[in-house]
Amino acid sequence: MAQKSSTKDKYSILLPTYNERENLPLIIWLLVKSFTESGYDYEVIVIDDGSPDGTLEIAQQLQDIYGKDKIVLKPRAKKLGLGTAYIHGIKHATGNFIIIMDADLSHHPKFIPEFIKTQQENDYDVVSGTRYRGTGGVYGWDFKRKLISRGANYVTQILLRPGASDLTGSFRLYKKDVLHKLIDACVSKGYVFQMEMIIRARQLNYTIGEVPITFVDRVYGESKLGGNEIIGFVKGLLTLFATT
Ligand code: GDD
Ligand code: MN
Repeated sequence: MAQKSSTKDKYSILLPTYNERENLPLIIWLLVKSFTESGYDYEVIVIDDGSPDGTLEIAQQLQDIYGKDKIVLKPRAKKLGLGTAYIHGIKHATGNFIIIMDADLSHHPKFIPEFIKTQQENDYDVVSGTRYRGTGGVYGWDFKRKLISRGANYVTQILLRPGASDLTGSFRLYKKDVLHKLIDACVSKGYVFQMEMIIRARQLNYTIGEVPITFVDRVYGESKLGGNEIIGFVKGLLTLFATT
């Protein structure tokens, strides 16, 4: 029952950036290459939060190279956090599908055609990349980081039984109208946001497909996930547990 993609389909890729000047040229090049090969219509929306390393200037140069219709810049003046960066980006998206991914090359654009194919096969509302099924995996994380991720997934699985294997990952494809409804339903704004989105998707009876992905730790720059984000995650999880 494969569903043919409509010729009007367009994919808006949201790329939040904070100090990603080394990574941005390569991720954008890979995205442009992938979409040029697959032939799907797309736009990349870069949401830079006033990165002190000059990420925005690099993004402007990339816009000159690839065109204003393909690279859309929606910067904010200062670091306001990942969750609100997505909300800001989606407001400007012209596609009927939204792809959310990290800009630091941990999420490889080569998986996107599989996301699209999986979505089309069952008309899924959400397709989530998963590190915890099939050929999925994590590379380059130390034991502590793996433990935190596994632990967060495990505890959430037990508490909320969401029926998806990777709750804290953010490499996903959404129907835009579905993403709007999920954002409206979500209360958290920090890193816990990823997890809440998938929990809410289940609650609202949206269908979720999964694609195994390999997550490779960044080579350039540093993770912005620190102790505060972990505390925020635990608080958010408990709030969800208490309220859902
Ligand atoms: N605009 C904006 N504002 N972008 C941000 C901000 C912010 O405040 N904080 C982080 N980013 C961007 C980064 O530049 C990167 O493109 C992406 O968001 C992810 O940030 P990282 O700092 O690289 O996150 P991570 O690698 O530690 O965490 C990843 O794995 C987590 C657990 O699986 C991300 O995919 C998380 O979303 C995920 O929860
Ligand atoms: Mn990262």
